[in-house]
Amino acid sequence: MEEKLRQLREESLQAIRSADALDALDALRVKYLGKKGELTAVLKQMGTLSAEARPVMGQLANQIREELTEAVETARASLSEKALELRLAAEKTDVTMPGLPVRIGRRHPLNKVIGEAKEIFIGMGFTIAEGPEVELSDYNFTRLNTAEGHPARDRQDTFYFDDDDEVLLRTQTSPVQVRVMETQPLPIRIISPGRVYRKDEVDATHSPMFHQIEGLVVDEGITFADLKGTLNELVRRLYGPDTKTRFRPHHFPFTEPSCEVDVQCFECGGRGCRVCKGEGWIELLGAGMVHPRVLEGCGIDTRKYSGFAFGVGAERMAMFRFGISDLRLMFENDTRFLEQF
Ligand code: DAH
Repeated sequence: MEEKLRQLREESLQAIRSADALDALDALRVKYLGKKGELTAVLKQMGTLSAEARPVMGQLANQIREELTEAVETARASLSEKALELRLAAEKTDVTMPGLPVRIGRRHPLNKVIGEAKEIFIGMGFTIAEGPEVELSDYNFTRLNTAEGHPARDRQDTFYFDDDDEVLLRTQTSPVQVRVMETQPLPIRIISPGRVYRKDEVDATHSPMFHQIEGLVVDEGITFADLKGTLNELVRRLYGPDTKTRFRPHHFPFTEPSCEVDVQCFECGGRGCRVCKGEGWIELLGAGMVHPRVLEGCGIDTRKYSGFAFGVGAERMAMFRFGISDLRLMFENDTRFLEQF
């Protein structure tokens, strides 16, 4: 039996030391030291030994068990360390490798023209004002001198939130005029870019959501000449110093007198083409002298103060500015389109 034990010891120690993986090592541990393992099998034969030999063999067997256990632990430690080293080597990052290029986007053409307009107006002493997109009918219509029953209030054109038609998605940025006159001290010189909403079917020139830039100036002695000078400056800065404008009489409830401003067609230079439908001119914005009723409704003394206001369609501005022929391109977010600006 002693011979058997020593042989087992030799064989198992060698096997354990040469194990090359953790799972192989574990299999060896089971094979030699497990409940049904080889060492146990030898020990089961102890009963056949003489009373003197038994303790000697028992001691030897225990010693071998300890030796083997220790050998397994040592081998496990070195195999784990090796495995960790391999993993670290495999996962090593080379910080000197060139990085993955980040695709940088660009500003949307609409934000570009709005940004340009802001720059131009800030240069003329204007500040930027903001108003809510969810607006009260009172601000969107009534206080802009647009009475009950006016066609602009129609449910066909306006998104209302309630049956009483009191809360709506603003159809124009003009309500910001009232909000500013209510809260800011005079003189006032603001522009207010933002989204507006109307129940329009989508086509090449219509969208149920679009952008406007509102403008308002209120001070002593403001005249139509100030309006013309300011808007001519805007147009020339946006479209070039030789761009011609045309001020055409029009009607808006909140201005008196009112006008629409056309610019000479960017496509044909005024001769008449498909873009301007043969007119030679393209409508850019609405404007006028602020109606005394609107000023007085905001507590402004019209014997002392007067003002002008205007509202530009921002999509229109961008379309002229960049020669874009279809409004829908602006909202589809096709990067092949957007990359061009
Ligand atoms: N709010 C008008 C519209 O959406 C545009 C407009 C016209 C704004 C005249 C003004 C203005 O401030 O004076 O059609």
